[in-house]
Amino acid sequence: MINLETPAFIVKKEVLQNSIDLIQSSLDKYFPKNVFSYSLKTNSLPYILKKIKSAGGYAEVVSSDEYELARLVGFDINNIVYNGLLKSKSTFLESIEKGAIVNIDSQREIDWLDDLPKNKSFSVGIRINIDLDIISPKDAKVDEGYSRFGFSPENKDFKNAVSRITSHSNINLIGVHVHRTTLSRSVDVYEKIALYVGEVVKEYCLNIQYIDIGGGFYGIMDDKPTFDEYFDSISKGLSSTFDLNEVLIIIEPGNAIVASALDFISSVIDVKKIKDFHVITTDGSRNDLDPFYKKSAYFHTIIASNPSGSIVPLQVVAGGTCLEYDKIFELEDTNLLKLGDLIKYKSVGAYTMTLSPLFIRYFPNIYLEDNGEYILIRKKWSAADFYSIYNTSE
Ligand SMILES: Cc1ncc(COP(=O)(O)O)c(C=O)c1O
Repeated sequence: MINLETPAFIVKKEVLQNSIDLIQSSLDKYFPKNVFSYSLKTNSLPYILKKIKSAGGYAEVVSSDEYELARLVGFDINNIVYNGLLKSKSTFLESIEKGAIVNIDSQREIDWLDDLPKNKSFSVGIRINIDLDIISPKDAKVDEGYSRFGFSPENKDFKNAVSRITSHSNINLIGVHVHRTTLSRSVDVYEKIALYVGEVVKEYCLNIQYIDIGGGFYGIMDDKPTFDEYFDSISKGLSSTFDLNEVLIIIEPGNAIVASALDFISSVIDVKKIKDFHVITTDGSRNDLDPFYKKSAYFHTIIASNPSGSIVPLQVVAGGTCLEYDKIFELEDTNLLKLGDLIKYKSVGAYTMTLSPLFIRYFPNIYLEDNGEYILIRKKWSAADFYSIYNTSE
């Protein structure tokens, strides 16, 4: 039996390093000039960020808070890719002045360019709006055909943004950025997006030094596309317009790096019978596993010290919160679980850890698994931790 204080996330050291190494070696195969820039929003645990930094990765941030966090971890400003709509004016200007890769995504950012010193020149990129309804409708998630992000080449928005940016004599527009997380993280959509980027760059005669292709890739999983397959598709699409020996290719993996490196573990804290089935309550919650409450199945393992002999028709495994809908998954015709049994959920923690709310029970422990040893790398938040941050003098 694993001896951990549950509920807890587990970061698997070797798997994390392996994902980082594999993504880098695959990039090197396809793109002579490349950078991987880890998406902080996917999981911003400092342990993970330090591993990225020491592997030579950049930090991809989408808010001033994430930007400050990347700085606290020690990323140099010129190793930051600054995207998104929540940039602050001061971090936006600082990042451009100090050489970050900054991709403009809103009109107010274009206004802020006026405040850069006029006697020096600076470089920025622009995010292109990717409308999957046009480029690849089958890859759009429900209600996510069009995107809210970037400037649209399908109407005058992109044209206007480009001319507003380039009207600044001290600003060079040197990069384009795209990102879509598609329905099935398919491979061929990347070639289509890359071709589209080529058409846009040609149409607007942009003199591009980098193309940031975003994230949206699967992590290392059986039966899922490999990094080689994704990067081959991107390189095919880009090669028809760009010389890959000249242009820098940036990717922004999040899920691809951390998904398979994180697990979640919870304990059974109650077993009761309701109607003609059993309800198994655990000290985890769907808030830890599935904050959007969409999933009905998980890759999981049950770890029981002493498997009981009695097989029962239906067990509803639930979370420990007071929400009626905090039901996690069902077990049919299996051994009845008992107090203290553990349920380990595989590949849970990319996004879920950062999206978890402070509801009823505060942030759980996080352990690092290193060669079968478990080292506590974040102690669970106590009421005192919560109080010390949220308390006011009034
Ligand atoms: C701009 C941008 N880049 C990268 C990512 C990372 O995506 P994924 O975790 O699917 O690789 C996201 C996720 O939303 C994003 O918005």
